[in-house]
Amino acid sequence: MTLDESWISSSVGALIGSPSGMRTDYAAGLDMKDLGRTVSACGWVQSVREHGDHLVFIDLRDATGTVQCVITERMELHLEWVLRVTGVVRARPVGTVNAAIPSGEIEIADAVVEILSQAQPIPFAISGHRDGNTDELVRLKYRFVDLRRSRLQRNLRARAQINSAIRSSLEESGFLEIETPLLWTPTPEGAREFAVPSRLQPGKFYVLPQSPQIAKQLLMVSGFDRYYQIARCMRDEDLRSDRQFEFTQLDLEASFVTQQDVRNFITKAVANATAVVTGETNLDFPTITHREAISRYGSDKPDLRFDHSIVELSESFKGSGIRAFDQPSLGAFVAPGSAQLTRSKLDELVDRAKSLGAAGLVWMRVKGQGETLSVDSPIGKLLDGGQVATIVEATSAKEGDVVLLVSGEFGLVRSVLGTLRVELGRRYLELSGLKYLWVIDFPMFEGLDEQGNPIAAHHPFTMPNPDDIDMMQSEPLSVRAQSYDLVLNGWELGSGSIRINDPTVQAGVFTALGISDEEAEARFGFLLNAFNYGAPPHGGFAFGIDRLAALLCGEETIREVIAFPKTQSGMDMMTGAPKAVSNSILGSYGLTVKVDKPMSTGS
Ligand code: AMO
Repeated sequence: MTLDESWISSSVGALIGSPSGMRTDYAAGLDMKDLGRTVSACGWVQSVREHGDHLVFIDLRDATGTVQCVITERMELHLEWVLRVTGVVRARPVGTVNAAIPSGEIEIADAVVEILSQAQPIPFAISGHRDGNTDELVRLKYRFVDLRRSRLQRNLRARAQINSAIRSSLEESGFLEIETPLLWTPTPEGAREFAVPSRLQPGKFYVLPQSPQIAKQLLMVSGFDRYYQIARCMRDEDLRSDRQFEFTQLDLEASFVTQQDVRNFITKAVANATAVVTGETNLDFPTITHREAISRYGSDKPDLRFDHSIVELSESFKGSGIRAFDQPSLGAFVAPGSAQLTRSKLDELVDRAKSLGAAGLVWMRVKGQGETLSVDSPIGKLLDGGQVATIVEATSAKEGDVVLLVSGEFGLVRSVLGTLRVELGRRYLELSGLKYLWVIDFPMFEGLDEQGNPIAAHHPFTMPNPDDIDMMQSEPLSVRAQSYDLVLNGWELGSGSIRINDPTVQAGVFTALGISDEEAEARFGFLLNAFNYGAPPHGGFAFGIDRLAALLCGEETIREVIAFPKTQSGMDMMTGAPKAVSNSILGSYGLTVKVDKPMSTGS
């Protein structure tokens, strides 16, 4: 998958086919078929090369690419000035053809230049595909310039193509796009929310939606059957490479469906979007259970670009007398990058495992094979030949490989090995390709809060597995939910579930979560009330379009696929937002501001 500058020219056919009053052609539309034509092109000066007094070559850049223009008139031109250039298309002299761009065989000669706008010296170079070392805060301050770079032009075009592929895929299956309110009420998705003061009712607030979750369920009660929305969502949570305050979901809900139906709709939409952007059409979407994901990969979002999975060895070492191994769980896997794991790197891994909560980590370098099999390991002397063979066979380790082992409680062993697996894989393996994975049968609750109440793993409208409903009060942590996640290359792309449409089951879940009838009524009374008026069985899903776009474009952060993202500390470097507002504005909302510490202006 290469999404380089030439990808842009292949994705702008509609622009090229639609010139405007000021231009006859776009840069990437000009080639040998146009020889002898008089054309006008408009755009920005990407480079200026002066050859003697009266000969200037410029590369003129527009939204489709660049075209070389030859100017014989003496004039002052600078980078990023905006021009309209009119001249005759001619073939470039032999030896000066640029095969990397569509207009590389021609140039606009005898060019007459109209200067449409001048530009100050730009704060950083924008011609290369990659951004070099420009500080991201500077890029964000001058985002309007940053966005001219081919990499970001490509990313935002790819993102638009993803949206349109998703729309057409879902509309083919009868989904209807419906917009839901942004001025809304709290939605229980687990994140802090943004509140918006009401001027007409001072002292009261709307809440910006974390997702259209409740609204889309109401649309099912209204009988729309299949809804979708490319929905802006807002969550006031800590920002990271895969998180922004504002983000976009493909949000979907359907009635009278099974889990498999929902997964099929999403698989088709995601596969369509992937094919449109990357050309890849042969993708697998395998399914594993949550339990299996944790057991084999130590994660509920496994990165399957490398298949070093974890095996359980506790049965083989029960009663072995080796204290470090005689634990409820003993997990092992072959470390990727074994050849590079020197003694000091292995010592670092032991420290890393301890920092993740493990009592320790045992490493074993495999030496010899068959009759000559042995291991080099701090605990090598404690193991007999049969035990060594058991470990080597179970992990499929080969001569020269390093096996890593951690023991303790199952959950801890898996989280430590799962983290090491990903860290080592990303450090030592050349990872490529797109590995989608459906993870199903998530637990209904993901632990207990300080009051001992279970914490909903998804949201409280998720339908429990009917086989487990009886355990809701007695053994809540064993209850499975009818919920499912889609994972891509180790990122959670999206999640969804079949919803509760039976008020009795809903009341049981609220009780298990420690939500009283009064609180449920105050927070979601309108939804519970709607369920008393004929609620169809329904289920849905939402995935992050920012995350999908970033991964398909090969980016490491979603900021690279968002036109105007916020910094890590939630600042908009260009506008300066968030800003203080005047007392008169505050007064109209009946608000006063008390600030303990000055607002940060940095990143
Ligand atoms: P969930 O909370 O899992 O599910 O969100 C779905 C997907 O939205 C994306 N996402 C984000 N992307 C960028 N920045 C953020 N701050 C952010 N938060 C979430 C992720 C995530 O997987 N209503 C349910 C879905 C449903 O049950 O139908 C929901 O919102 O890619």
